[in-house]
Amino acid sequence: MVDLKGQYNGIKDVVNPSIQEVIENTSFINGPKVHEFQKNLEQYLGVKHVIPCANGTDALQIAMMGLGLKPGDEVITADFTFAATVEVIALLQLTPVLVDVNADDFNIDIEAIKKAITPKTKAIVPVHLFGQCANMEAIMEIAKAHNLFVIEDNAQAIGASYTYKDGNKAKAGTIGHVASTSFFPSKNLGCYGDGGAIFTNDDDLAHTIRGIVNHGMYERYHHDVVGVNSRLDSIQAAVLDAKLPHLDSYAKARQNAAKKYNKAFEGYENIITPIVSNGCLKVCDTCDCHVFHQYTLKIKGIDRDALAKHLNAHDIPCGIYYPIPLHKQKAYKDKRYNENDFKVTNQLVKEVISLPMHTELNDEQIEYITATIIKFING
Ligand SMILES: Cc1ncc(COP(=O)(O)O)c(C=O)c1O
Repeated sequence: MVDLKGQYNGIKDVVNPSIQEVIENTSFINGPKVHEFQKNLEQYLGVKHVIPCANGTDALQIAMMGLGLKPGDEVITADFTFAATVEVIALLQLTPVLVDVNADDFNIDIEAIKKAITPKTKAIVPVHLFGQCANMEAIMEIAKAHNLFVIEDNAQAIGASYTYKDGNKAKAGTIGHVASTSFFPSKNLGCYGDGGAIFTNDDDLAHTIRGIVNHGMYERYHHDVVGVNSRLDSIQAAVLDAKLPHLDSYAKARQNAAKKYNKAFEGYENIITPIVSNGCLKVCDTCDCHVFHQYTLKIKGIDRDALAKHLNAHDIPCGIYYPIPLHKQKAYKDKRYNENDFKVTNQLVKEVISLPMHTELNDEQIEYITATIIKFING
């Protein structure tokens, strides 16, 4: 699905010395590279505070801890996402409230959020799925009206922008009260191990979170709150700092690949290509609304699983993200859920298929992938 070796070959002249520097100065934990990367990412995103941590799951958990959410508080999130989002809600003994998503852009359904709000609701976690933002303007309005926190799960959309109705833009992860991201190797900004970060414009929250990531310490050996040990190590920061200047060109490479996929599938009614829901509504040359962490098709009227097998038989990797709705997972089932409230997710899990999407995809590969799919569709 990704070509990390190809990407590394293109940047190894920068990455290798950056890693070497950490090894030479032996500041493996909280070294200057972590600080440099943090500052550079703050500048890139236009956010006041980036707090690096060990991975994207920790980032979500720490964001929720920082907001002071308490057991029993209800947290609304999408039924159609990676399990990490709901996992940390449950782990903190908060109550996950899963809601349906939109059929067109796969992001959390605004009307479903409104319907799910109760007096116990304390937060909404929109997940910017597959590389584009949820409808943040509507979500922030709901949050304001009901006095809720908004925690953006930005693991899949770093570098994307959200376009407001008035045309202004903001980077994904800088709109809610706090956001999390993941630097898992296959993410749009991936390191060579695990990594993550929390973003916020709130000075007090940033201070609280900086203590939480470091055993609840604000002063050495003074543990004021219950914290965790969640650090981005300096070698990962060295990789990320070397890759950050390439993030926009990486997004462009993904968008170009998406455009070529879209073009090849034009006119095939069984294949629904992804839409860009914010801003310009299509993948265009100036668009940074969708950074295509995944390129996900919906397959209508033909056997999606047979197509996946066919692709694998032709040495083409593909992914089903996600095959089971979270509300049907053993760990997150809840008697309160009504199947009628998950019509879209229940359908999407049968139709979606993600194609290889990365910065190194070339025309020959795209032609081979699309021709193999079209041949299968044509029978
Ligand atoms: C939407 C979403 N949230 C959270 C995570 C968790 O990130 P990590 O694997 O770095 O813990 C992921 C990672 O795949 C993700 O896709």
